[in-house]
Amino acid sequence: MTIREPGGPVSGPENGLASPGELRLATSLLPGVGDSPSLPAASSSTPGATSSVARYPGSPTLPDMDPVSLTSLVSRLANDLFAMPAIGGPTSSLAPSADAPASPTVSAPAPPAAIPTTSSPSLGAPASPSPSMPSGAAPASRPLGADTLPVSGSPFDAPLDFTAFEGAERAFLAPAALAFPLVDATDLAAAPHEASAPRVTAPLDFASLEQAPTPNPDLTFPSRASGVPSDLTNASFTGGSLDAHALKREFPILKERVNGRQLVWLDNAATTQKPQAVIDRLKRFYEHENSNIHRAAHTLAARATDAYEKARESVRRFLNAPSASEIVFVRGATEGINLIAQSWGRRNIEAGDEIVISWLEHHANIVPWQQLCLERGARLRVAPVDDRGQVLLEEYEKLLNDKTKLVSFTQVSNALGTITPAKAMIDMAHRHGALVLLDGAQAVSHKPVDVQALDCDFYVFSGHKVFAPTGIGAVFGKKDILDAMPPWQGGGNMIQDVTFERTRFHPAPMRFEAGTGNIADAVGLGEALDWLTRVGIERVERYEHELLVYGTECLKTVPGLTLVGTAAEKAGVLSFILAGQKTEEVGGLLDKEGIAVRSGHHCAQPILRRFGLEATVRASLAPYNTKEDIDALVAALERIQAGHARA
Ligand code: ALA
Repeated sequence: MTIREPGGPVSGPENGLASPGELRLATSLLPGVGDSPSLPAASSSTPGATSSVARYPGSPTLPDMDPVSLTSLVSRLANDLFAMPAIGGPTSSLAPSADAPASPTVSAPAPPAAIPTTSSPSLGAPASPSPSMPSGAAPASRPLGADTLPVSGSPFDAPLDFTAFEGAERAFLAPAALAFPLVDATDLAAAPHEASAPRVTAPLDFASLEQAPTPNPDLTFPSRASGVPSDLTNASFTGGSLDAHALKREFPILKERVNGRQLVWLDNAATTQKPQAVIDRLKRFYEHENSNIHRAAHTLAARATDAYEKARESVRRFLNAPSASEIVFVRGATEGINLIAQSWGRRNIEAGDEIVISWLEHHANIVPWQQLCLERGARLRVAPVDDRGQVLLEEYEKLLNDKTKLVSFTQVSNALGTITPAKAMIDMAHRHGALVLLDGAQAVSHKPVDVQALDCDFYVFSGHKVFAPTGIGAVFGKKDILDAMPPWQGGGNMIQDVTFERTRFHPAPMRFEAGTGNIADAVGLGEALDWLTRVGIERVERYEHELLVYGTECLKTVPGLTLVGTAAEKAGVLSFILAGQKTEEVGGLLDKEGIAVRSGHHCAQPILRRFGLEATVRASLAPYNTKEDIDALVAALERIQAGHARA
């Protein structure tokens, strides 16, 4: 197999991309909201405990205030204080913390030899790190243009496109006074829309592309049985292999007919379908439990609170996290990464620090770090992959040094299906003192996840990729790290006490769940994970591996088809191009046959461009897919190539 010069295929002017180079980004003065331990926790109850009605201990002592209705105030405060499942640990105030616990880091050995760098034009004078904001002061800001640092390149540093930060992102990042410099604008901004035809400007290594994942009868799976309650072990699924046809019958939407054909759903990396158990659970919630949580002394509030916290416990169990207080509900993986960037990142990333990602990342694991680097004057570095789409571990390790504060990478590539060597990458990062965020969006539905065995510091995933509703997902964070992080959004639910002078926050996870959350869908997520546990995630992993091998072999027989992403360790994704066909047209022709795939850039443009492509057709698998689904796809592709596609 030929391994190209790392970074080569994407870096040259011949493919229309900018030269790779590091851009140290400008510093701004954007303080996070501080927090300092000030009061003891109000309650020792924990999420997932017994009914919130049953655990009301009595009347609180109320502050001496005079609202319109004292009776109403007494009732509301009592509910807030005692229905809230506080988790213990320090509380905090808005004043910046002088004594907040520092994020734990592993002591770093001497950094490895530096990667050769190439010089780039100087773009301005270095900026000093911004001081912390004093409590109550208005956020300071200053133009970034004056603070932009010189460029010094490494073959593995991301070509950042500052044009992407023009416009709406400014409002998100910073007060309006900030002005981002237009530096190193690349052709990326002018790249064709994802629906356009593939643009193969870099030669593909067809020898390596022919290598397919091979069945591995020796696959061993960690035993999770000890952590699984008996009600989650379903007798009909124990023993033997997974019956995909039976599983498919649990998904009502898979009975749909599309364009007169039986629906074949092969767009699972975009979203998975929902089993009847999850649909029924949502219905039950709205019919019998619907209420806001943690707030009211009535029966439905207690039911809703219990259901919500039970779901948090299901997430904990599914990830094998030590405690439910380490699980934060968010809208999805994207919001989870943004939470960590905005909360942990703004507190811990300083000018000159480095964040490492991989070339495989979804845009959601690129853009938040670009934004943070831009704001803090930090540097984003990118670990390259080989021609099969596998992270080059030696090159990755060379990027790590004592300036590396965070490594954030995907466990499974959404565009190629590559399974990254997560444990090895995490261990390497820890040896250099960096924390690690693992993006599990594409992993959780395909393989067992054990955050304790992985030893990742953060883990994020989206519910809708794992048979749960959209708009719900979770962040796992190690407790000491979460407790040292300030809230990123303020509002109800995340506070213990508010006056006009200061606010005390709940400990994690509540401090990160401002406002009324997506209660019903969190309950749906818990049900989906329990359902998947009943099916058996190890069984799913084995079955999908067989299906992936079958699909790979079948697709290779289609004339003119080239698979993109042929890692030895893959999960659930068959990405390909068809000679002479535009990807969006292939997607449209397959839809006419009732077959749903995604065609486009899959929100992962850098990795497709690594292969000289702007788009692929992507068939992605779930345990309800069958060999017949693959056969239908292959037959339709053969008809397309023969010019006999259904009009
Ligand atoms: N991230 C989703 C995908 O890969 C939307 O399609």
